[in-house]
Amino acid sequence: MTMVMDKVERGIIISSLILVSLFVFSLLYAKNRYKADVPECLPYDKAYTEPKVNKLDEKTYQVFAVAAMWQFQPSEIYIPVGSDVDFYLTSKDVVHGFNIAQKNVNMMAVYGAINKTTVKFDKPGVYEIVCHEYCGVGHQNMAAQVIVNYPDAK
Ligand code: CUA
Repeated sequence: MTMVMDKVERGIIISSLILVSLFVFSLLYAKNRYKADVPECLPYDKAYTEPKVNKLDEKTYQVFAVAAMWQFQPSEIYIPVGSDVDFYLTSKDVVHGFNIAQKNVNMMAVYGAINKTTVKFDKPGVYEIVCHEYCGVGHQNMAAQVIVNYPDAK
C-alpha cells in the first residue's frame, strides 16, 4: 500500500517539476524570441521613493517613478528620441498599475518593493502612462506622460 502511494507521489512530484520547467522555459523563450520584457524585482531602497529623472548620458535615462493615491510622480518625463529609459517603480500606499500601452509595459507599483524595466523610445511622441489596477476613487485620473522629442522639450 505504502509503495503504491509513493509511486503516485513520485509521479505527481515529477510531473510538477516538468510543468514548472516548461513554464520557466517558455518564459525565457518568449523573453528572447519576442524580446518580451520581464520586469525585474530589485532590493528595496528608500532612495527610489524620491521621484526623479536622472540623465546618465545623452541616450540613457533613469526614472524613479512613484505611484501614490492618485498620481504618478514625475508626471511629465521629457526625453530625447532614441533614449533607453530604466523605470524604477514603487508605490507610497496601495498597489497601483503602471501601463504604457504603446510600449507594451505592464508593471505593478507595490509599497516596499521596486520593480524595474527598460524601455527604448525610438519614435517621437507622447506616451501615456496609466494606472490599470483599481486603487480607489481617484483611480481613473491616475496618469502621467513620457514626452519624447516634443517641441520645447525641456
Ligand atoms: Cu492607481 Cu489605479
